[in-house]
Amino acid sequence: MDFKFTEEHIMIRDAARDFAKTELLPGVIERDEKQEFPKELIKKMGNLGFLGMMASPEYGGGGMDTISYVLAMEELSKIDASASVMVSVNNSLVCWGLDTFGTEEQKKKYLSKLTTGEKLGAFCLSEPEAGSDATSQRTTAIDKGDHYILNGTKNWITNGSSADYFLVIAQTDKEKKHKGINAFIVEKGWEGFEIGPKEQKLGIRGSDTHSLNFNDVKVPKENRIGEDGFGFKFAMKTLSGGRIGIAAQALGIASGAYELAKDYSKQRKAFGTEICNHQAIAFKLADMHTQIEAARHLVMKAAWDKDQGNNYDLSGAMAKLHASQTAMDVTVEAVQVHGGNGYVKEYHVERLMRDAKITQIYEGTSEIQKIVISRSILKD
Ligand code: CAA
Repeated sequence: MDFKFTEEHIMIRDAARDFAKTELLPGVIERDEKQEFPKELIKKMGNLGFLGMMASPEYGGGGMDTISYVLAMEELSKIDASASVMVSVNNSLVCWGLDTFGTEEQKKKYLSKLTTGEKLGAFCLSEPEAGSDATSQRTTAIDKGDHYILNGTKNWITNGSSADYFLVIAQTDKEKKHKGINAFIVEKGWEGFEIGPKEQKLGIRGSDTHSLNFNDVKVPKENRIGEDGFGFKFAMKTLSGGRIGIAAQALGIASGAYELAKDYSKQRKAFGTEICNHQAIAFKLADMHTQIEAARHLVMKAAWDKDQGNNYDLSGAMAKLHASQTAMDVTVEAVQVHGGNGYVKEYHVERLMRDAKITQIYEGTSEIQKIVISRSILKD
């Protein structure tokens, strides 16, 4: 086994690290407080290629492997998980979904703008009554010949107001259950498409999350993705890769908090010495480091599986399950290592602790990952 990264991997990781430190770190506290993310920063991420890393170069993508992508995701997430969720949704769900399953026309018209940051994407599956139970879609798309009429509500949509293009999953034939579900590309501004108020969130507050309402929105047939009835499989396949991105985000949140705690413990003195010299703190750091390394191996294995063309449903779910638990455990301990300072904003760990929680919820809760894992290991 060779665990070495290539020179290109290291270059990409360092570019993401540099961008995170120089562009994301200044203002991260303010963005969290104000619940906003400036458009210019999204553009910068697009110009540097972070928004279409794995997409095909003929549509403006970086043509990179998944290892490169998770390395970048980890670095961005160490500093700003709000930025990295935008990157993750645009790369893993929207660009990957269109690149893999879109028509030539859809790729030319939509993907080529999403890879460069000219436009931003959102993925719309969850509904007020269909979160984990994704087959129970209430949003309907009625076939009217050359177009569909879309009606319904989507909830908790990342990039809800900043996105331009939305991949919307809807029921086209209720009788057929999951085989009667389709996915559509919907553009912001189409008649009957309304963006609801911004959610007031615990974490990833810089990223915008909204509900979306579709009232008789006319969607041209050429905007359906894949064959009729492919929508549920489209969502599942896309989310499988998305889970690797979120696992990398969780890994980044954990390693960001760990690095802050380690540095702090080497400076802060108590009882006559730096606090890292007390086993109470040193053992915490040992546990944090061990958990993070285990998460890193799972994340890299899932990314490697995807790059090798192996099935990655199981390895992606395990990576997300473990990395998100690691993010929770490590960020809580990082606050503890900081003591009172950990509870105030300027030390960053309280934000990372709040950000960590969402990695156990979105793109499938931890319980959903356990469904995927247990079904996979029990099927033989
Ligand atoms: N790849 C391909 N096909 C898949 C698949 C996969 N990974 N997973 C399931 N399928 C197929 C099955 O093979 C089956 O097809 P057939 O009938 O042809 O055999 C079909 O889909 C139905 O599968 P299941 O019977 O397993 O479906 P289920 O109802 O039991 O649900 C589930 C399975 C794993 C629980 C699924 O509902 C799920 O993943 N739920 C969570 C949804 C989720 O992640 N939501 C997050 C919202 S998106 C988000 O958070 C984005 C954001 O903004 C950050």
